[in-house]
Amino acid sequence: MQIPTPEQAWAYLMDAAERNPGPWVEHSRVAAEAARAIAAHHPALDPKVAYVMGLLHDIGRREGRSDMRHVVDGYAFLHDKGMDDVARICLTHSFPVPDVRAAAGQWDSSAAERGFVQDYLSATEYTAYDRLIQLCDALALPSGCCLMEKRLVDVVLRYGPNDFTVAKWNAFFDIQREFDQALGRSIYCVLPGIVQGTFGCDPRC
Ligand SMILES: [Fe+2]
Repeated sequence: MQIPTPEQAWAYLMDAAERNPGPWVEHSRVAAEAARAIAAHHPALDPKVAYVMGLLHDIGRREGRSDMRHVVDGYAFLHDKGMDDVARICLTHSFPVPDVRAAAGQWDSSAAERGFVQDYLSATEYTAYDRLIQLCDALALPSGCCLMEKRLVDVVLRYGPNDFTVAKWNAFFDIQREFDQALGRSIYCVLPGIVQGTFGCDPRC
């Protein structure tokens, strides 16, 4: 697989955090830890690969404040390094429904770049890693892992709903069911800090 080591991935993220600090950095760390935890209980996934993909899924934010352009920038950054197996995650993570119109945010890239993303999504069959990072993106608040419903509401409160909101939510629940089945238990049984992340309280309280 063409992916960086966890140490390289962490260095890319820290460099990006200096270039463009923000809650997205902690969100990336939380998504990576969620992906690693789920992969560790999955019969076909490598926790180290899952962790790297989680760390780098939003790496396009290194280029500065942007909306959907970050998926194109992340792909370009990793594609240029020959790391296509994680570059793809930068594109696929935002699209459980593989349609550029389903994006939660605004398209602030060129029409040609948006067309490139649609062509890529249309030609791509999602792997379990694509779906894992889509899932973990939807579980990761900057403060920690939380119930997916909480994060989905958080995104719609920030960006507003669109015509694809219900289809996307259903796609996320389908992915959750897939991973629940693969793990033989709820994903929430293996996610770190889920009670605190969801309810903001110490699990012992
Ligand atoms: Fe993300």
